[in-house]
Amino acid sequence: MLQVKEITANQLDTKEFIKEKVAEISEIVGSGIAINALSGGVDSSAVTMLGHKALGGRLRTYFIDNGIMREGEPQQIVSVFKKIGVNVEVIDAQDEFLNALKGVEDPEEKREAITQTFYKKVFGNLVKKSGAKHLLQGTILTDVDETVAGIKRQHNVFEQMGIDPQAAFGYKIIEPLVQLRKDGVRKVAEALGLPLSTYNRMPFPGPALSARVIGEATKERIILVRKATFILEEELASVKAFQYMAILHSDRVTGIRDNKREFGQQIEIRCWDSIDARKAAPTQLSFNTLEKLANRLVTEVPGVVSVTYNIATKPPSTMEAI
Ligand code: XMP
Repeated sequence: MLQVKEITANQLDTKEFIKEKVAEISEIVGSGIAINALSGGVDSSAVTMLGHKALGGRLRTYFIDNGIMREGEPQQIVSVFKKIGVNVEVIDAQDEFLNALKGVEDPEEKREAITQTFYKKVFGNLVKKSGAKHLLQGTILTDVDETVAGIKRQHNVFEQMGIDPQAAFGYKIIEPLVQLRKDGVRKVAEALGLPLSTYNRMPFPGPALSARVIGEATKERIILVRKATFILEEELASVKAFQYMAILHSDRVTGIRDNKREFGQQIEIRCWDSIDARKAAPTQLSFNTLEKLANRLVTEVPGVVSVTYNIATKPPSTMEAI
């Protein structure tokens, strides 16, 4: 197994780090073309900027619209990067992802379905189309740790799992951030000139909203959790927390609406205090905040009759529910 040498946020000299990584990317890609997928999160945003510094127009940046992103996300990310002079092409791959998720309930199988669709199908095609030989991606050390430890198969970890991307997908992967954790990446992103809304952005997992649906992630269930997520992010926007999320459970419970029985949906709210995602504790949200949130969820999201707040720590919980 490959050992990765950690650079802690305290040790990090952002200027030196950026210089080194830009040189490394230039050297590896040579005069060729590379591609990368931008999700808008701090990791992929930092990689996009490093890649553009190193390769300019020879880095093709794509936003993969996988149908499991949050409300308005594709347009919002494209416009943030347009403002800083980076062109991002949106690829509509909604059907591919939703088809791959059909009938899949097991968390690891869901992750695997997304991995295969992303790297083999969608990226396989983009590599052919663009003539790229390299993919730049924002894997960080926490992704590697948890995958290697067998906790969660993060969608973007290969080499440490003994998978050769060249043999499996037909291109090489460059991971400039793999020595850093989230706090280090935020420092690098700030030093790269990204806006505060990006370098401070709350993490969002690769498997997107499908990680927030327990059981099968159908189009209808994604729409439901997307609505809940929108409300939750609006209500908690001023809360200082590492991450918050709405999770749609698979089991239903009996509720009552308009004097009639409603066998309804359950939403679990999670809100975490954490520094680097390795350990986390639930944020002590005020009961007022929770009540307001619950009220909006049961009135604005069709079918929701139960709202709970997770109060367990990580470990033994993990931050995402699948
Ligand atoms: P967990 O759930 O492993 O999450 O405690 C730790 C942090 O990593 C983010 N994240 C992911 N989580 N699959 C995940 O389960 C992924 O591919 C992924 N990418 C990022 C997660 O949102 C949390 O911040």
